[in-house]
Amino acid sequence: MTKKVLTTSAGAPVSDDNNSISVGPRGPLTYDNHYTFEKLAHFNRERIPERVVHARGTGAYGTFTLTKSLKEFTIADFLQNEGKRTDVFIRFSTVGGGQDSHDFARDPRGFAIKFYTKQGNYDMVGNNTPVFFLRDPSKFPDFIHSQKKNPRTNLPDPRMAYEFWANYPQALHQVTILMSDRGIPASYRNMNGYSSHTYSFWNEKGERFWFKWHFKTNQGIKTLRAEEAAVADPHGAQQDLVEAIDRGDFPSWTAKVQIMTEQKARDAEVNPFDLTKVWPHDEFPLIEVGQLELNRNVDNYFAETEQAAFAPSNFVPGISSSPDKMLQGRLLAYQDAHRYRVGVNYNQLPVNAAKCPVNHYQRDGAMAGLCPAGGHHHQTSGANFYPNDRDDGPAPDQAVAEPPMPVEAGAWLDRFDTDEEDHYTQAGNLFRIMSDDQKQQLANNIAGGLGQCDASVQQRMLAQFEKADPDYAARVAAALQA
Ligand code: NDP
Ligand code: HEM
Repeated sequence: MTKKVLTTSAGAPVSDDNNSISVGPRGPLTYDNHYTFEKLAHFNRERIPERVVHARGTGAYGTFTLTKSLKEFTIADFLQNEGKRTDVFIRFSTVGGGQDSHDFARDPRGFAIKFYTKQGNYDMVGNNTPVFFLRDPSKFPDFIHSQKKNPRTNLPDPRMAYEFWANYPQALHQVTILMSDRGIPASYRNMNGYSSHTYSFWNEKGERFWFKWHFKTNQGIKTLRAEEAAVADPHGAQQDLVEAIDRGDFPSWTAKVQIMTEQKARDAEVNPFDLTKVWPHDEFPLIEVGQLELNRNVDNYFAETEQAAFAPSNFVPGISSSPDKMLQGRLLAYQDAHRYRVGVNYNQLPVNAAKCPVNHYQRDGAMAGLCPAGGHHHQTSGANFYPNDRDDGPAPDQAVAEPPMPVEAGAWLDRFDTDEEDHYTQAGNLFRIMSDDQKQQLANNIAGGLGQCDASVQQRMLAQFEKADPDYAARVAAALQA
């Protein structure tokens, strides 16, 4: 095979890559070394800001196959016909640590799916847990600060995490999941994915249904105990996924949905839009709708996985948001982060570009291109304003108008303190379905961090466990004494 010729980034052939031009063999370099300067200057610019959360992650491509039509609930094109296959890109991540942290931290795992549908990209940006620590987006920066490194020592500091949780009991349900055996998945293949939030479907008749996604691992749940994680390879989850896909052992998940009618939501005792709560399975059974498979690794980690930009606001006709306050906060946060982290034209990069025509009147900005993957033009030389008289100027389509979102009749615009709501029943339910061994792991994992906290934090946490289940508190208290 003829070797490819090395070139500059402008495509010109390069004669020597090892020796810069110097004044004699021992002499200084000259301005003629523009090629060396190009290499050094590009190197200086190799990093972009890492994600402020979920910085450490692994991505791969795959396919979603619909096995049950959801036509009754949604007009979303990729959910109409059984057997329909849709390309996806998935990125798994840990949350709190930086890019060079550990794959096996006790931390929720991100489970973000980009569905490249015929009606644009739909992103399901979820976690491996069905709930979250908070129900108001204003608390997200505070909560994340408490999970990250101590600002003075730059060291992990469980005292900060428990200090926040002791002051914020609505986190208890998610804390219980995090501290349980499921808090450290043995690999990305061995965990479930959840939308966690309630979203909405709407159908041809303009009827809206609330729903949640569940992606159940077909590999089975496998977890690491704290002592196993302490000695695990920090890159183990990345390696496990890449190697499984490379050897053709494609990981897969069974996709399920829970569905709630608008009427049921109005009557529900527990707020169906509260992210700290699940919808009980017995009342809202899981409906199996598809299979998700990962079958192709990325060619270039940085270009694809690092620059992937997932946004909970990436909806397609037939799928939309809900009144969940956390979700509303997220609808604004992600695109803002992408513009900062990747750049204003991030949707033109191949991993982010829709695989359908993209027609709009946005123009210019850093790195504006004409023709991203698939040949679908984002920025053309045609009309750059709307309305216009041009035949080829794109126009809105009323057929995809979303039905009005119901809101509480006579509601007031105000700040509502929801902290009196029940934080304990579902955390207790989870504790009660655990085996004896799981309960003991939970208590030991909590004692590991809580044991480093002062007595006041310990007492407030024990009071929360007591309200969830007296045995929960008793086990943690005993583990703290051990
Ligand atoms: P169910 O008994 O019907 O469901 C229990 C669910 O809990 C199962 O999906 C099971 O997952 C999952 N589970 C088991 N152990 C753990 C753990 N350590 N951490 C997280 N999830 C676990 O009960 P309910 O629907 O009434 O829910 C009871 C509790 O189960 C909830 O309070 C919640 O904490 C948890 N849960 C509920 C979910 C829901 O959508 N209702 C989803 C996931 C968790 P699997 O089948 O994969 O083993
Ligand atoms: C990533 C904000 C809650 C799942 C991010 C990023 C931001 C962010 C800024 C980085 C995005 C980027 O740079 O590309 C927020 C805010 C939240 C919130 C403000 C609450 C108000 C949640 C919740 C979930 C979640 C509840 C799960 C249900 C994720 C995932 C990623 C992520 C999976 C990584 C996506 C990827 O792989 O690129 N979040 N987040 N976040 N978030 Fe959130």
